[in-house]
Amino acid sequence: MLCLKCETNKEWVEIASRNLESIMIDHAHCERKAASNGMSMILRYPEKTELVKEMMDLIDEEMSHFRFVFNELHSRGITMTRDTGDRYAQLLSEHIRKPEPHKLLDLLLVDALIEARSCERFLLLSKSESIPEDLRKVYHDLFVSEAGHYRTFTDIARLYFPAETVKTRLEELADIEAEIVKGLQNLPTVHG
Ligand SMILES: [Fe+2]
Ligand SMILES: [Fe+2]
Repeated sequence: MLCLKCETNKEWVEIASRNLESIMIDHAHCERKAASNGMSMILRYPEKTELVKEMMDLIDEEMSHFRFVFNELHSRGITMTRDTGDRYAQLLSEHIRKPEPHKLLDLLLVDALIEARSCERFLLLSKSESIPEDLRKVYHDLFVSEAGHYRTFTDIARLYFPAETVKTRLEELADIEAEIVKGLQNLPTVHG
C-alpha cells in the first residue's frame, strides 16, 4: 500500500483487536503527536511558506482526530494514560540525516512513511470482525484521512526537492521502514 514494502502481519491485527482500550489510548497519543509534529515543522522551517500552510491544515485535522478519539475513549468510560512511547517512530527517526537540506527531505519522508503505516493499519482494523461496527467505520474514515496526509508530505517534498531525489530517498527509507516493521513485537499499539 502506498510506498510500503511490507505488510503488517495478521498477529498484530488479532492482538490489536483483542486490546482495544490499549490501541485507542495509544492512538489518541499518535494523533496528539502528529499535531505537535506539524507544529515543530513550522518551528523549524517558518520561511517555507507552502510547508507552513500545509502544516496548519494538517495540525487542524490531527487535532480533530485527537478530539474524536479522546471523546470515543470518554464515551466508553476509558481514561487516557501516559504515553508509553513509539519505538517504531524512534527507530525510523534515527535515519534522518542531520545536515540540511537532507534533514528537511528526511523529516518529510519519515512523516510520510509513518502516515502510510498508520493508514495501512487503520484499514486492517476497519476490516477486523472482532471490532465493534461503529469503531470499524471510524478506522475506515481515518484510513482515508491518513492516506491524504501521506500525499501531503510527499507533495511538500516534491515542492522543495527534485522528483527523482524524492523518489530515490523514499525508496531507501521505505526499505528501512520495512525492516523495522518486521522486527516489531506485535504490541497492542498503533505502531507496535
Ligand atoms: Fe490523524
Ligand atoms: Fe495523519
